[in-house]
Amino acid sequence: MSQLLLGVDIGGSSIKAGVVDPSTGLLVGSMVSAPTPRDSTPQNVAAVIAQLAAQLPQATGPVGVTYPGVVQWGVVRSAANINHAWLGVNGAVVVSAALARPVAFLNDADAAGVAEMRWGAGRGHMGTAIMLTFGTGIGSAIFVGGRLFPNTEFGHMELDGKEAEVFCSARVRTVEKLDFPQWTARVNHFLERMHALFWPDIFILGGAVSERFAEFAPLLRVAAGIRPAQFGNQAGIIGAALAAAEQAHSG
Ligand code: BGC
Repeated sequence: MSQLLLGVDIGGSSIKAGVVDPSTGLLVGSMVSAPTPRDSTPQNVAAVIAQLAAQLPQATGPVGVTYPGVVQWGVVRSAANINHAWLGVNGAVVVSAALARPVAFLNDADAAGVAEMRWGAGRGHMGTAIMLTFGTGIGSAIFVGGRLFPNTEFGHMELDGKEAEVFCSARVRTVEKLDFPQWTARVNHFLERMHALFWPDIFILGGAVSERFAEFAPLLRVAAGIRPAQFGNQAGIIGAALAAAEQAHSG
């Protein structure tokens, strides 16, 4: 077993953390979580992360943290479903100061995709793979030859005059009380559009709703392979920890 690392996933409604063995991609023990503070400023979120980290002392050293928006070299560039006080803030620096540990800070869907490509549904896949996470928003990550092209924001692609995530996120399914046939018809529209533009070999569908894949899989229609994410809503935590491991190795 290699050094156990802490992975943290900042979401619109909750912040989740878990201990990960980066040599297997598996969570060791169970996740802990706390509600995202109502006033989700960088300082308030960093304080919650410090409380969660204190509950998971088995993990030492660098910490991986995902953020629900664009992150360039640690600096936050968008804030669709979180406090705008994050804009322009170096998330790695803020969380690192709260934890007194090195931090790798990256987009949540990029992290989920890294986990799935390395140890999950996309393991060994060398073609073009698109990971989509359905949650409060829609996150995306694209891989070619196993390498990530970071910060794609396909959830904000326009579909019939509406952003995709306002049309078919998991949150929209709940808020608009859509049944699976209704919601999947919308997802199909999104997948067809993405397919026409990027021609991926496979789509990997993630987010908590992917745990109900069997219920909507027969309704999916797109001319590419479709796989459910293997790590469900743990993928962000796992990918964050893998990013922390990688950052530690590259110095
Ligand atoms: C953000 C993405 C994020 C996704 C999932 C979108 O609103 O723009 O960066 O990956 O939500 O949290």
